Amino acid sequence: MGFGHVGRRLVSLLDEMADALPFTADVIAIGTRRHGLAIDARGLDTARALQQVIRGDRLSDLHAGPPPDEATGTGLIAAVAQRCAADAARGHVVCIESTVLDITRGEPACTHIATALAHGLHAVTVNKGPAAFAAQTLAAQARQARRWFLHEGAVMDGIPVFNLVRDTLPGVRVDGFRGVINTTTNFVLSALAGGQSFDHAVAEMQARGIAEADPSLDIDGWDAAAKTAVLVNVLMQGRLSPHEVARTGIGHLTADAVRKVEASGDRLRLVASAARTPDGIRASVAPQALPAHDPLAGVDDTDNALYLSLDPLGELGIVQRGGTLTHTAYAVISDLACIARSPIPEEHS
Ligand SMILES: NC(=O)c1ccc[n+]([C@@H]2O[C@H](COP(=O)([O-])OP(=O)(O)OC[C@H]3O[C@@H](n4cnc5c(N)ncnc54)[C@H](OP(=O)(O)O)[C@@H]3O)[C@@H](O)[C@H]2O)c1
Repeated sequence: MGFGHVGRRLVSLLDEMADALPFTADVIAIGTRRHGLAIDARGLDTARALQQVIRGDRLSDLHAGPPPDEATGTGLIAAVAQRCAADAARGHVVCIESTVLDITRGEPACTHIATALAHGLHAVTVNKGPAAFAAQTLAAQARQARRWFLHEGAVMDGIPVFNLVRDTLPGVRVDGFRGVINTTTNFVLSALAGGQSFDHAVAEMQARGIAEADPSLDIDGWDAAAKTAVLVNVLMQGRLSPHEVARTGIGHLTADAVRKVEASGDRLRLVASAARTPDGIRASVAPQALPAHDPLAGVDDTDNALYLSLDPLGELGIVQRGGTLTHTAYAVISDLACIARSPIPEEHS
């Protein structure tokens, strides 16, 4: 579901990495909002699908067999499940959700994931919506269905965060975190400090396919708030919606204000953080002037960094230098490898 920047980079990366991957993958269905949908249980011609979508054409001529009962995302997922159920040798069928972030309720992504799990498919997403708005519900549904619900690409693209904690830190408790986790705002702040204009920096992030479809979601801090909610809900077992994260964006900051902070020796960064308090988990996203010795101060341009507070291990830092679409597409590949490795998730997941 979704065949935009991330979905399209994913199909090309699967081809480029085919010889190095521990699994083989066929793309058997693609659904988008404006280009319609196509299913071919023998495998779609993804090169043709890429060309058609880039040209602005519909995908319907790639479709094989009867059309799904309804031409919606849930109709597509149900139709794929039905066709694959007849083919027991098919392997694992995964719904990859890469539609745009909806900051009001996380829809239709949450429904896409729930429908996939209900029909016996695994679900992987790069969209923050599902784990920001329905992490516990979807995880419980996945556990009951004995299927995976994975979302490595929702935070810090392809750099392991959720896989790292789940697979390598058994018994460790995440007590909080601090991070720079929105690439567009970090790029804008770095550009302003270097004398470039706000609008130019946002346009550059759009040109690279990194800014959200609606870049105000980045600038106003919503993307970082959604990621913060995902981290709280998944790593700290919290129940925060992005609307419960105290949020200040960077839209009000002028180049002069940023350069004034830099001239004092500090660096301005949009910092996302969360901590356990006696009143529950508190989380925020806000620009902060950081002293040069703060590890987040050196996170420039398209870099991201996340520092987790772990009991009993103390602080663990994860840094991504130069995030690109390839990193996000790779997050899906790492989730697919996880499913191929252990198709029935263990209880802890
Ligand atoms: N780009 C990045 O660097 C990045 C990094 C990490 C995470 N993400 C997340 O990944 C997701 C996709 O990002 P993107 O850059 O690929 O976005 P995009 O280029 O805007 O593509 C979004 C895709 O979703 C489809 N879509 C939107 N609403 C839909 C609906 N209601 N039903 C079916 N399909 C729908 C669009 O279809 P049409 O084109 O036909 O409208 C398009 O194919 C977002 O949630 C984003 O937050 C992106």
